[in-house]
Amino acid sequence: MREHVASARTHRLTIGLVPTMGALHEGHGALLRRAREETGYVVATIFVNPTQFDRPDDFQKYPRDIDADLAFCERLGVDAAFAPDAKEMYPGEIMTSVDVTGVSARLEGEFRPGHFRGVATVVAKLFNIIPADRAYFGEKDAQQLAVIQKMAVDLNFPVTIVPVPTVREPDGLAMSSRNQRLTPEQRRIAPVIYKALCAAERSIQAGLELLSVVPEIQVEYFEAVDPTTFEPVEKMAGPVRIVTAVRLGDVRLIDNLLVSIR
Ligand code: PAF
Repeated sequence: MREHVASARTHRLTIGLVPTMGALHEGHGALLRRAREETGYVVATIFVNPTQFDRPDDFQKYPRDIDADLAFCERLGVDAAFAPDAKEMYPGEIMTSVDVTGVSARLEGEFRPGHFRGVATVVAKLFNIIPADRAYFGEKDAQQLAVIQKMAVDLNFPVTIVPVPTVREPDGLAMSSRNQRLTPEQRRIAPVIYKALCAAERSIQAGLELLSVVPEIQVEYFEAVDPTTFEPVEKMAGPVRIVTAVRLGDVRLIDNLLVSIR
């Protein structure tokens, strides 16, 4: 891979990297197209990374179709595909790993212990194997993107991380290799996820808009907090206090509402 990249560089081409775990779909298509537009030599990596799976059955059932993936890459004008096996990526015992603390602690980090260590470590290895100028990651995996951005800054990887918007099915379901594993009934239900996110966006917006369309009012804060600690809410569950402070002329008014989220 280094020789391919070095040879592209002698032709003054910039290098674009799109790391994937295969089972490519139009979400990956958006990453590859963006890389194709912005860089002169596009490398896709296809590797179902065992160290980022917290459950062996999830790793085993992860969809794989290398022939279809290579055909997909070819159709999109990818210059090189790197599809190592696990022995090539991890030839010996793994004694070194990358831990991005803070941003990786909650949510996916909490529900999938070790997941982000696996992701950060394999992405660091890919950045070293394929010294790219720009690397493309989907916003669907928003926390993963934040982890990788922090890692690239903290470890001085000379690569620009490019976020690419989520691609959705016509009914709103975010494209994912895992969608293939849904039964027809589950597939019918799944679009409710995006509907719920949109409903949450609308109600938060609606609350804020009511205040912000009044020219006499300046909002200082409008937040959902834990009613005991007054820290920003960690989970939209149980009691949550919506708190706000506004200025109306030179008068400062505050108010709040305790909301019980079931
Ligand atoms: O998002 C993915 O497909 C994977 O987590 C990645 C970034 C390719 C690392 O294995």
